[in-house]
Amino acid sequence: MAGGYEQYREDVVGRANVADTPELIAYYERLKKQGTGALWTVANKIEPWEPVTSSVPMLWRYRDLRDDVLRALDLVTPEQAGRRVVYLENEGRSDVVAAVGWLYSGLQVMKPGECASSHRHSASALRFIMEGSGAFTNVDGHKMTLGANDFVLTPNGTWHEHGVSEDGTICIWQDGLDIPLMNALEANFYEVHPELNQAVSFAVDDSTATWAGAGLRPAGMAWTKPYSPLLKYEWAPTYEALSRYAKVTDGSPYDGVMMEYVNPHTGGPVMQTIGASMQLLRPGEKTRAHRQTGSFVYQCAKGSGYSVINGKRFDWQERDIFVVPAWMYHEHANGSASEDACLFSFHDLPVMRALGLYREEALADGDGHQPILA
Ligand SMILES: [Fe+2]
Repeated sequence: MAGGYEQYREDVVGRANVADTPELIAYYERLKKQGTGALWTVANKIEPWEPVTSSVPMLWRYRDLRDDVLRALDLVTPEQAGRRVVYLENEGRSDVVAAVGWLYSGLQVMKPGECASSHRHSASALRFIMEGSGAFTNVDGHKMTLGANDFVLTPNGTWHEHGVSEDGTICIWQDGLDIPLMNALEANFYEVHPELNQAVSFAVDDSTATWAGAGLRPAGMAWTKPYSPLLKYEWAPTYEALSRYAKVTDGSPYDGVMMEYVNPHTGGPVMQTIGASMQLLRPGEKTRAHRQTGSFVYQCAKGSGYSVINGKRFDWQERDIFVVPAWMYHEHANGSASEDACLFSFHDLPVMRALGLYREEALADGDGHQPILA
């Protein structure tokens, strides 16, 4: 009976399977009046057999978005807007302004000489630089200069501001945050810095100078904060590390040659709630499909190719962004027979792992490849 109390019935042993009767309906209505309900009418809905996501796989083409992102330069100032950003809205998650799951993503644009006001928030944030020169971020007094494909952290609770130097060019970067998660947890605070811009308290780029030595750490240096002291991960050493690793490994059948950005102090994820990776697909490489708990935002950092997500093909090239919702099969292919392709991604796996929820599963059928749905 559509719209009745029995709409989630399942004829499976161990699951709720109660047919509506006039007597039960009267009972349910009495319960409702008292702010209660019978669990068996909703149990199968609220405890699905496996994760259910309202997010859909989506891809945003940079070449389609770029003009409108640049248009924002003429329409609002950073002072008016706070942050001049075009956000990516998942069709199934517009109510929480998420790009996928509990993750937010947007494209921020700034021109030379501009600097957004300093602030801090409960959400953990990152940026991945898409284009331009002269961009900088100041995190708790650590000023960092940023170039294309650099990845920078602004962890939960740190004062931060972004800008572009006078001698730079218009810069666009992807902002990634866990704003929807913070709101879901009802733990989100936001503060504007009492002074518009905070001081630069350390030598510029001191975080990479101190913590970016591969296999080396600064002697006697204490670090007690719950995020990576290496606030910036530059593209050139990242690509070099991947290229070197690719010479000695077959890589993962699902992800190709993949490396995680880590906190050099712990070897763990860069922030408490958000992790990030860079993966390299060799020329012509096609991975097999798997699915994971957790949500992923990808940005193509180099080359071109496609990913099949839940049976749908998404073609990508440099700077395109796409998302893989939780527990959806996905596989990646490098479209070039001669050049490698690189995918940056960030995700909420640190949350999944901390809560004991991480799970992954390979696609058993179809030789590991999904049928492409029309
Ligand atoms: Fe921020």
